[in-house]
Amino acid sequence: MNENLEKLFDILLSNNPSILIRENEDYIFNIIPELRKSKGFNQNNPWHIYDVYDHILHVIDGVKENIILKSRYENYVKFIEEKERWLFLKVAVSILSEKDNYKESIEKINKTDADYLHLDVMDGSFTESSSFSLNESKEIKELCNKKVDVHIMSINLKKIISEYINNITFHIENNDIEKYIDLIKEKNIKVGLAINPDTDLSTIYPYLDKIDRVLVMSVVPGKGGQKFMGSVIPKLIYLKENKDKYNYEIEVDGGINKETISLVKNADIAVVGSFLTNGDYNKNLELLKERI
Ligand code: DX5
Ligand code: ZN
Repeated sequence: MNENLEKLFDILLSNNPSILIRENEDYIFNIIPELRKSKGFNQNNPWHIYDVYDHILHVIDGVKENIILKSRYENYVKFIEEKERWLFLKVAVSILSEKDNYKESIEKINKTDADYLHLDVMDGSFTESSSFSLNESKEIKELCNKKVDVHIMSINLKKIISEYINNITFHIENNDIEKYIDLIKEKNIKVGLAINPDTDLSTIYPYLDKIDRVLVMSVVPGKGGQKFMGSVIPKLIYLKENKDKYNYEIEVDGGINKETISLVKNADIAVVGSFLTNGDYNKNLELLKERI
């Protein structure tokens, strides 16, 4: 095995790849000269680590489609296939876009190997629209054979928290964060904090040692089918690099499809709504998994 590739993948597989990439820029430029033309590796360019990942994913595609000379990149593909471990990513299916026919949608989700059902609870107080009522939510949990991941977009947290028994993620844009974290923990369920695209990540720093999950919104909350906001990628990089200090999972939510999923590899869970629920659920899930 080419020791250059070993070193490159050790950097990518480390817990703080962006720092190591910056420290080994010349070395990486020699391995992947094509990157020299890309946006370059500089302190404030959050994309550089994704240039490397993206380059490698394109190489794999190219070899698979026989566009790229297999012999030249055989190492990459073999190495990556061996290192499947960094290609894992759980998928949570959001049915917000299927609100009007959620029963049919759940039946289809039950026949996929998605990891979670992502239940968006909106009562119109935090977003313009509202979504599922408490009774519908209870019915959805009954009907679904997946673990349910509850994403609460509301300011009426006390009432809603008292009604839900699954792990609960609520928004940092609320007040009295500590109080609600404690309220949820008293129920012995997992607690997550969600953060909007335009909210600074530093707002959650005081709570990172108290929560089980960080939900990075990559769209403005309120509806499915929106475009992924690449501006949240630095949040994913920071959370990945600091993950070992705490024990949170990283979840990303909004605009994820077969193009954007390769940009959120640092997350543990990707919430996918409209890309997955438009058409054949299993086929769409396969398309996502291929690209992870
Ligand atoms: C938006 C919700 C998301 C959304 C994701 O407020 O929190 O979970 O339903 O749907 P897509 O994948 O279509 O952006
Ligand atoms: Zn959501």
